[in-house]
Amino acid sequence: MKQGPIACTWSRSRSLSLSLAVLAALAVPVGAARAQDAGQLNVICSVQAEWCNMIQTVFARTTGIKVNMSLKGSGEALAQLIAERANPKTDVWFGGTGDPHLQAAEQGLALEYKSPALGQLHLWAQQQAQQSGYKTVGIYSGPLGFGYNTELIAKKKLPVPQSWADLLKPIYKGEIQVANPASSGTAYTMIATLVQLMGEDKAFDYLKALHKNIAAYTRSGTGPIKAVARGETTLSISFVHDGPGEAMQGFPVATITPSEGTGAEIGSMTIIKGARNLDNAKKFYEWALTPAAQEMGAAAKQFQVPSNKAAKIDPRVPDFKKIKFINYDYAKYGASNERKRLIGKWEKDVNSLPR
Ligand code: G6P
Repeated sequence: MKQGPIACTWSRSRSLSLSLAVLAALAVPVGAARAQDAGQLNVICSVQAEWCNMIQTVFARTTGIKVNMSLKGSGEALAQLIAERANPKTDVWFGGTGDPHLQAAEQGLALEYKSPALGQLHLWAQQQAQQSGYKTVGIYSGPLGFGYNTELIAKKKLPVPQSWADLLKPIYKGEIQVANPASSGTAYTMIATLVQLMGEDKAFDYLKALHKNIAAYTRSGTGPIKAVARGETTLSISFVHDGPGEAMQGFPVATITPSEGTGAEIGSMTIIKGARNLDNAKKFYEWALTPAAQEMGAAAKQFQVPSNKAAKIDPRVPDFKKIKFINYDYAKYGASNERKRLIGKWEKDVNSLPR
């Protein structure tokens, strides 16, 4: 598909209806289960806090199961699961980019589980399950692109970058933030996307040149677009579905996808091998695949495409048909050795350079 970049902006007009949807979701009757001790569930959550909090509250209210939740970026979550290997404390890992979930599967950290709901999911989500040997599953997808502060960019008289190539221009020196790929799946998706787009040597030349324009590498994938929203930096490399939530809070943010093509994540969910609360983990997993649970992403102002085909698509979800995508090789770039190697190479050859 050959198409130019698309720009997306969002209005605040729908925030009220979403807030009502959230309230409605939270008002679900508690049910008899709560009276008994339905036990607990330990979840690592790698989407943004508002969505994590919502699923924690709603799942607990509908099932009576107490959810202990810890929020971690995708790379950090994987590191914790590796550290807990001998004595797992986590039952389910919800969300975050798919590559480290595949890595967890390959490293024997994930439980094989074939949900009866698989057939209700988009093909890309089912493929994520198949290629992991049913040790993870796709729960959402979203494209990588750039975020920019519409006011700052106008004030500084900078053009909106249209392409990966544009980001290297000296006019953007010190104007761009992106996350650190060791902690953030968003940033690893960027490296893997560039390697697939340009070939490895050219991609690393590109990353070295980009390094000169980077103001800061953040820990979390959403740090850069939040900094853009708040006027702390002009540009970010971010998932474009993270833009509307900032705009709904009244910040001057827009996003664009690069003209050369871009990658998309398959946000994933995994049951941990050795989970202490396995029955509850399976209950949560099945619940998280339902359309109603998946629609909570948009209710929490996060606009990925849900993996359940019956889940409603919010109008602020980026339109995949208008974006030029590379054919992202999830199996290759989710393989442990490849992910470790590329992150190590970035640390050594790029991050160590002066800016
Ligand atoms: C945000 C995005 C998610 C993504 C996650 C990755 O929450 O909305 O779609 O999966 O970031 O986070 P990370 O910190 O690992 O880049």
